[in-house]
Parts: sequence; C-alpha cells; structure tokens
Amino acid sequence: MSESDKLNFMEKMKPWMGWLVFGSTMLGVFLLGLLAASIMERRQEAARLYQAPVNIADNESDSAVWGQHYPRQYDRYKKMSDSETKTKYGGAYPRDYLEETSANVILFAGYGFSQDYLQARGHIYAIEDVTQTKRVNEKTPATCWTCKSPDVPRLMAQMGPEKFYAKNFNELKNEITHPIGCLDCHDPKTMGLRISRPALVEAYERQGKDIAQATHQEMRSLVCAQCHVEYYFKGEGKSLTFPWDEGMAIADFEKYYNDRDFKDWTHAISKAPMVKMQHPDYEVYSMGIHSYRNVSCADCHMPYRTEGGEKITDHYVQSPLLNIANSCAVCHRWGESEIHARVEKIQDKNSQARKMAEHNITRAHFDIAACMQAGANDRELKEVRALVRRAQMYWDYVAANNGMGFHAPQECQRVLGMAASSAQEVRVICARILAKHGYLGQVRYPDFGSKEKSQKLIQLFIKNKPPLLLTKK
Ligand code: HEC
Ligand code: HEC
Ligand code: HEC
Ligand code: HEC
Repeated sequence: MSESDKLNFMEKMKPWMGWLVFGSTMLGVFLLGLLAASIMERRQEAARLYQAPVNIADNESDSAVWGQHYPRQYDRYKKMSDSETKTKYGGAYPRDYLEETSANVILFAGYGFSQDYLQARGHIYAIEDVTQTKRVNEKTPATCWTCKSPDVPRLMAQMGPEKFYAKNFNELKNEITHPIGCLDCHDPKTMGLRISRPALVEAYERQGKDIAQATHQEMRSLVCAQCHVEYYFKGEGKSLTFPWDEGMAIADFEKYYNDRDFKDWTHAISKAPMVKMQHPDYEVYSMGIHSYRNVSCADCHMPYRTEGGEKITDHYVQSPLLNIANSCAVCHRWGESEIHARVEKIQDKNSQARKMAEHNITRAHFDIAACMQAGANDRELKEVRALVRRAQMYWDYVAANNGMGFHAPQECQRVLGMAASSAQEVRVICARILAKHGYLGQVRYPDFGSKEKSQKLIQLFIKNKPPLLLTKK
C-alpha cells in the first residue's frame, strides 16, 4: 500500500470511526444514567420505607384508617382473614389440640385449657377468638385483652395500665373492638417500630436494661415479644408481668415461680400446684441459632416482597412454610422442597420427644392419685408433686411454644428430655410410696384415648369421685 493509498484509506474510515466513538460515548452515558437512576430509586425506596404519615391520630386504633395511607401493607394485612391454611404442624387453621392430643385434657385437668384449646390463627381473629373461648368467664380480668387489640394502648393512655388491668374483662368489651393492628407495632407520627405494651418495657427495666437502646434489628423481633412470650397476672392488681428477672431459660422461669410460690391452678388428679406456660415464642427463639445470628422474627414471618416495583414488608404474618421463597430461601440456597423437608424433619423429632414426655407426665399424675387412694398424705406427696409440676412446666415450655420446636431444636430436645426424666422420677418414687402402703400391683390407668373420654374422666376427679386406680394389696 502506498502512502497516498494509506491516507485515502484513513479518509474513508473517518466517518465510521467517528460514529464508533460517538456511539460508545452515548452508551457509556446511558449506563451511567441507569446507575444514577437506580441509586436514586434505592434512596427513594429507603425514604419511602420510613416516610412519616401526614395525619394519623395519636391513638388511631382502626387499621383501615392507616390503610388509606399504606394500601399495600393493609391489603396484605387483610389476607390474615384466611384461616384455612395448613402445614403439618401449623398454619392458620384452628386445629383442636384436645382432639389431636387427648393427653392435653389430662395434663390440664381442673384448668380452662382442658375445656378448650385451639391452634392460633391470624391476628385479624384476635378479638373474635378471645371472646368465644370457653376459657373466659365472668371472673376473667381485663388483663386478658392486653395482647389482642390496638384499643389497648389507646385505653392505657387514657386510664393508665394499672387501672386497665384491674378492670373486669366484660367491662371493656364495648371499648375493645379492633383486632391486633398497626398501632400495636407502629408510632403513628414517625411510622417507626415502637413498643406499645408496658409489660415488656418493665421486664427490661427489672433486668437493668433500657429497651430504648434496642437496635433496629432487635426491634424487628421485640415488637412480637410484646405478646408472643410467657407471662402471668401478678397479685391482686392482675398486672401483666413477664417472669424474666432470672433469665429466659425454663430453669429461670421455674426458679422465678417457685421463689414466689406461684401457681395457676391445682391439678384435679394429682393435686399438684401447677403453672401453665403461655406461648414463650420469643424466649425459645432466643435460645436458637437464628437469634444467635441476628435473624429476626420479621425476617421469617414478615419477609420483604416486591409489589409494583416497590419493596415492602409483607404484613401477611403467617407460617413461613407457606412462603419459603421470600423467607428462608433468601438466605438458604437450598431448594424449596428441601427446605420444607428439613423443617418437617426437625419438627417430627420434636413431636416424638414431646409424646414421650406426655406419656410419662400423664401417668405421673395418675400415680400420685393412686398414692392418695392408698392413704398417702400431703407431706409424703410433697416431693412428687413438686417434681410433676416441674416436669409439666418443662414440657409446656416446648409444647406451648409455637413452631413444633423449630425455633430452637436442640434446646427443645434438652428440655423435653428433662421433662420426661422428672416425670419418670415421680413414677419411681410413687411405686415406693405405694409399696410402703401395701400396694405392690400395677396402677390401673383409665382410658383417655379421646377428647370426650378424657373430659368425662377428669370430671370424676373434679367431683372427688375418681375411679379406683389401685389393684389388690
Ligand atoms: C428462621 C426463621 C424463623 C424465625 C426467625 C422465627 N420463626 Fe416462627 N416459625 C418458623 C417456622 C419454620 C415455623 C413453623 C411453621 C409451620 O409449622 O407451619 C414457625 C412457627 C411460628 C408460629 C406458629 C405459626 C403456625 O402457623 O403454626 C408462631 C406464632 C411463630 N413462629 C412466631 C415467631 C416469633 C414471635 C418469632 C420471633 C421471636 C419467630 N417466630 C421467629 C420460622 C421462624
Ligand atoms: C406485628 C407488628 C406489625 C403490625 C401489626 C404492623 N406492622 Fe407495619 N411493619 C412491621 C415491621 C416489623 C416492619 C419492618 C420495619 C423495619 O424493618 O423498619 C413494618 C414496616 C411497615 C412500613 C414501612 C414500609 C415497609 O413495608 O417496610 C409501613 C408503611 C407499615 N409497616 C405499615 C403498616 C400498616 C398500615 C399496618 C396496619 C395495617 C401495619 N404496618 C401493621 C410490623 C408491623
Ligand atoms: C398485640 C399482640 C401481638 C403482637 C404484637 C404480635 N402478635 Fe402474633 N399473635 C397474637 C395473637 C393473640 C395471636 C392469635 C390470634 C388468634 O388465634 O385469634 C397471634 C397469632 C400469630 C401467628 C399465627 C398465625 C398463623 O397463620 O399461623 C403468627 C405466625 C404470629 N402471630 C406471628 C407474629 C409475629 C412474627 C409478630 C411480630 C412481627 C407478632 N405475631 C406480633 C398476638 C400478637
Ligand atoms: C436472614 C437470613 C436467614 C433467614 C431468613 C433464614 N435463615 Fe436459617 N440460618 C441463617 C443463619 C445465619 C444460620 C446459621 C448458619 C451458620 O451459622 O452456619 C441459619 C441456620 C439454619 C439451619 C441450621 C440450624 C442448625 O442447628 O444448624 C436451618 C435448618 C435453617 N437455618 C433453616 C431455615 C428455615 C427453614 C428458614 C425459613 C423459615 C430460615 N432458615 C430462614 C440465616 C437465615
């Protein structure tokens, strides 16, 4: 190629090169623009997440009013009206725990839970369900309303918590109409998460901690810990109290209640002083790996979802097994069916250990009753009654906790193991007491194979006409 040919060639190429430079510059600008737009969008998203509402009143307890400002959250919230969802051990379906496990009737003999005990369903049903349960009667204190409604923080702001607790359940019936809703977890002025229930704040104070110092991630569990915890009604004033002074493990609760000589009821069969665990979800969760690794209740039960290009918190609070893709699968790169199977395996094992403990504890109550029939006095039975109280408290820490052991599998197995062995100890000691009174044969255990049979059976004990449990001398 000669010099002039070369020049000629360059001249021919020029327009093409020019377009190339121009084109790639434009592409670069376009990509930079996209990046900038994406950053802006993220910022706006973050701003939107914490955007303060304009005019929601201080104690607005009607979630529909909040819903006008936050339709996406409200629409998902309303999905909690579905009470048909079922998983192997959970879901919002109100399964009958007494029908499913008739041992429950024996374990709660003499207490309301032997009459009526259904699985929890969505937050939207809180008022309806507490009004319908047979466990509520004319003596029930207003304290029972505490975890059911955003009208509670409204009323507490008006009358103060102490006056609220001291009222009767029925006295406040007309005031408490809205089921668990926005005001329970949110500050209407800032939309930030807030603690609306004094019992949780006080439990922190008694441990020398300030709940206002909780991190944002902790708050994503603490809003749930206002209600999903173990509690009792303290003293004459019936004030709602969490027994956390010694800690949140079952041995800490046992010490707390024993130090105060507290009992919820006297067992109709064994006459042991009993404590019912409520639903220590937060406490059991805090013993598990997810709590240790800072995964919050909301991460699994209220995961993020994208709607119309907007990232929102899913306000359809439910079993994560019905929403694995948005909850577990965000962190665990296992397949959905594998995750599902993994959870059920953990739960099956927990369920088995639970059954073993139930077997021993139900029989321990009958063994003590047999000792009474053989003529043993209260002094002789003090030790076994204390042991069966312990066994059942330990069992119930796991049983009353939701999730069939998933929240802290190892801790649940350990506690169930202790429950089964304490009950076994009762049975060994009872055999000795029976022998001392001249009875060497087997205790005659009555049939409690169904809810109906069990409920009839416990009536006999309640009326002090128990069936004969002793075999010949
Ligand atoms: C790592 C995920 C995870 C975390 C964190 C978590 N849970 Fe769960 N939770 C589950 C799973 C899985 C189940 C079992 C659901 C089933 O059996 O259908 C469950 C069950 C439940 C249930 C019963 C729901 C049902 O449909 O039976 C409640 C109530 C609950 N959890 C409350 C809480 C609370 C309160 C916290 C925080 C203190 C919490 N969970 C933390 C995963 C989690
Ligand atoms: C059981 C507690 C609870 C209830 C009840 C509740 N929220 Fe939330 N809400 C949360 C949690 C947890 C978040 C996540 C907050 C965070 O991480 O900062 C949230 C976040 C939000 C946000 C921020 C945007 C987003 O989606 O993350 C809005 C808006 C909101 N909720 C509106 C509502 C409305 C409206 C209601 C009533 C219909 C309501 N919430 C009821 C717990 C609750
Ligand atoms: C104001 C008290 C309160 C707060 C706050 C609260 N819950 Fe509940 N929760 C309840 C009650 C009461 C029920 C049972 C409602 C019924 O059965 O009528 C329930 C039921 C549930 C269920 C069972 C629903 C189903 O479909 O299986 C889950 C899961 C649950 N809550 C998780 C949470 C989580 C997670 C949080 C925190 C983000 C939370 N709750 C905050 C009181 C509360
Ligand atoms: C926000 C992230 C996150 C979410 C959501 C989450 N996990 Fe995890 N999970 C973890 C972390 C972190 C660990 C601890 C792993 C470790 O430290 O090696 C863990 C551990 C586990 C383990 C092992 C437990 C053990 O004892 O070794 C199982 C099983 C598990 N998760 C199941 C689930 C299921 C099922 C869900 C949904 C219901 C879920 N996880 C949701 C982060 C998460």
